[in-house]
Amino acid sequence: MKSQRFVYLKVERVENQLILVDSAGKKFLVPELNEKGTSLYKRAVAAANNPTKYCFKARVSGNLTEGSVEFGRNPGENFNGAEPVTNFNRPNGGLEQYEMKVTPQAEVAEKPVEEDVLNFIHNEAGGLKPQMLFMHPLKWKYLIRNIIRGKNIMMTGPAGCGKTMAAKAAANSIEGYNMEIFNLGSTQDPRATLIGNTQFDTKQGTVFNPSPFVKAIQTPNTVIVLDEISRAHPEAHNILMTVLDAGQRYLRLDEAADSPVVKVA
Ligand SMILES: Nc1ncnc2c1ncn2[C@@H]1O[C@H](COP(=O)(O)OP(=O)(O)O)[C@@H](O)[C@H]1O
Ligand SMILES: [Mg+2]
Repeated sequence: MKSQRFVYLKVERVENQLILVDSAGKKFLVPELNEKGTSLYKRAVAAANNPTKYCFKARVSGNLTEGSVEFGRNPGENFNGAEPVTNFNRPNGGLEQYEMKVTPQAEVAEKPVEEDVLNFIHNEAGGLKPQMLFMHPLKWKYLIRNIIRGKNIMMTGPAGCGKTMAAKAAANSIEGYNMEIFNLGSTQDPRATLIGNTQFDTKQGTVFNPSPFVKAIQTPNTVIVLDEISRAHPEAHNILMTVLDAGQRYLRLDEAADSPVVKVA
């Protein structure tokens, strides 16, 4: 056996099955990957939803007939120029060459199906909790569930009980999600922190520079941690009101009634 090398594989959904595609466009079905509820499957869903950010790395041996698949946080660009897999026949990972018989149908699911989501919350969420974090398993599960479901969650408790730590750990533990933390306790100017600043530019005149928070709420799959919200300036509460309300979910950039609004992704 020659030395091992890596190739990058894109994940695609075809007829609700996850398919790995090599750089030459050849498709592979991975039976084990398609077992819902496994962590590899969950990661493949994340990769299929965000192909520019994640792709699979296949470890292949010299003659390209053996190998295994692993998931890496490899940006999609790495995929370009990767070596094509030509004969991925009976790899130990269960990767089998799959000749596509049917033409792909139009109804390609954008989001993981409900069954996967439930499976993930009930079977896998618990395993993501860091060992060092002391927290009731049910509370942890609830935290993960709300992230997956895109809902708000408020954590209360005495100082130093691990609220910030748990929020960061939960956001980091799920593949495919980014995290942005805003410490609202440390700002006296919530408008600048949450909305942005206007600046003067000699060429364009006065321009508006949106804050990182505005960018964060427009980015899908972003977990936004509003730390120390109980200490926030009252103005912050006003600004956040529409963002946090599940029925509204927008941010108005100015106080004027006809000012532009930013929709939460
Ligand atoms: N439940 C916990 N499990 C593990 N470590 C904890 C826990 N609670 C607090 N700690 C430790 O205390 C530190 C401070 O906790 P932190 O998350 O900032 O508390 P809070 O945000 O609730 O005030 C953490 O970084 C961690 O080292
Ligand atoms: Mg804290």
